[in-house]
Amino acid sequence: MYAVGLEKGSHGLVVREIPKPFIESDNQVLVKVLQAGICGTDRNMIRWGEKDFPPGEDFLVLGHEAMGQVQVVGPGVKTLQPGDIVVPTVRRGCGQCACCLNGQSDMCCTGLYRERGIHKIHGYFTEYFVDDEEYLAKVPTGLADLAVLTEPLSISEKAISQLRTLQLRVLWLARHQEHQPGAKEWGHGKIALVIGAGPIGLLGTALLRLGDAETYVIEIVGEEHIKVQLIRELGAHYIDGRGKTVEDIVAEMGNPDIILEASGASKLALSLMPILARNGVYILTGIPRGEREVQLDGNLILRQMVRCNHLIIGSLNSNREHFVTALHDLARLRDTFGSVLDKVITHRYHLLDYQEAFQPKGSSELKVIFDMQRQQ
Ligand code: BGC
Repeated sequence: MYAVGLEKGSHGLVVREIPKPFIESDNQVLVKVLQAGICGTDRNMIRWGEKDFPPGEDFLVLGHEAMGQVQVVGPGVKTLQPGDIVVPTVRRGCGQCACCLNGQSDMCCTGLYRERGIHKIHGYFTEYFVDDEEYLAKVPTGLADLAVLTEPLSISEKAISQLRTLQLRVLWLARHQEHQPGAKEWGHGKIALVIGAGPIGLLGTALLRLGDAETYVIEIVGEEHIKVQLIRELGAHYIDGRGKTVEDIVAEMGNPDIILEASGASKLALSLMPILARNGVYILTGIPRGEREVQLDGNLILRQMVRCNHLIIGSLNSNREHFVTALHDLARLRDTFGSVLDKVITHRYHLLDYQEAFQPKGSSELKVIFDMQRQQ
């Protein structure tokens, strides 16, 4: 079978013939890849030459967002059968720390984890893969066409779930978390700011809107961009950040209780820290590469943090629970916002057209996916 990935000594992506995998233990499952998404991490790995090959190999199959169909199950597999549609998780825990041993490999303490298509283990830009049952989440009927978005949505799910847990430090908010009939959604009455409207930012916006937070999204694109259309369809407000100062932004939206950073633009991200409302939570998901020196008022940032009980945290990766929640929320999002999420997938290519798939596409681009059933 063929696979697309990074090779030692070459620049950019290459296609290679690799052996088709087979089940080697009772709890394993053979999955045929149906769709796989391209993510900023893939682009960065190519651009910055980050190649974390599996031990002893000189090739890494790229791709960590996928949806596929179960072909064969080992005799010990309990919850899946051939024909089921599944999404695989990304991280494989270190097998040593308490987090990894208790289902929270996204919080791995040793850093010795592997990630499919990213660190030391092959990904999904290929025809088939084998994995343990525990790393596959079954896609409910009727959601197969959105399921390739489960992985990026799971990243936003983790960020939002961290945020909600952290809000419990304020007792008044904690008391209002109990689910009572007729209770308002968790974000009701809160103002949220999302920085960056790539897939993670937009999916995060969708979750904030599902939680009824009044949500503003800052980006640097014109009205004609698909991102702006989708922000509005989610009932969020668009802030065109071009030429705006931090003061202009506050004048437009007030002080946000929640900031979700999904751009990796460090200057903007840092300069917006002091605008958080009292007791606000700022959660960072964007990962800037390279170096960037910025000049900021450090005293202002620290002063506001302390005086206003600000909480600033980073959030990386997601665990199986976030995938399961994401699958559940895909259905809720479709019920609430109609076809908005379908529009997030803007371009589809056959995997062998990978060069073209990775080319920038201007204002019509959001999520580009490989669709294995598509004609080349
Ligand atoms: C993935 C995460 C992963 C991270 C590593 C992201 O694109 O969604 O699962 O942990 O890359 O850099």
